[in-house]
Amino acid sequence: MAGLKERTLCIIKPDAVAKKAIGGIVAMLEKEGFDILGLRMIRLTMDDAMAFYVVHKERPFYGPLAQFMASGPIVAMALEKEGAIAGLRRLMGATDSRKAEEGTIRAKFGTDIERNAVHGSDSPESARFEIPFFFSQSDLQPM
Ligand code: RTP
Ligand code: MG
Repeated sequence: MAGLKERTLCIIKPDAVAKKAIGGIVAMLEKEGFDILGLRMIRLTMDDAMAFYVVHKERPFYGPLAQFMASGPIVAMALEKEGAIAGLRRLMGATDSRKAEEGTIRAKFGTDIERNAVHGSDSPESARFEIPFFFSQSDLQPM
């Protein structure tokens, strides 16, 4: 029995775009069976970045995080797969790239706890907030 398809948001962060890792990361996502329903390269303003990560507004790293996310172009992707949310988090690896498990995106392309190459929604609620942040419903048709 096929499980329920789920959608999640993935962002290739400015550090990974700068090191020409877009293709490598997209290849890992496709190999893992994610359908790419939407893909956009954009540059966030400081306000955009603060709005996107508003869940972290009380954290000490909120300002630096927003600055980092606004420091260069990013690639936002709406992904679909069975168990997409947990599956993407597994493929990403630990937040601190230096501790990320071998074979994960962050182990391969991340640098440290902040410059960690990718973002992934951490729950269905986050995905419901984050996907419409970048994509309108009509852009996202199942493959
Ligand atoms: P993300 O939201 O980007 O997918 O990352 P995550 O769930 O693994 O980690 P989270 O706790 O949500 O943190 C969001 C992003 O903030 C930066 N960060 N910096 N300096 C620090 O201690 C610190 N901690 C987190 C990272 O870029 C992290 O991905
Ligand atoms: Mg997070």
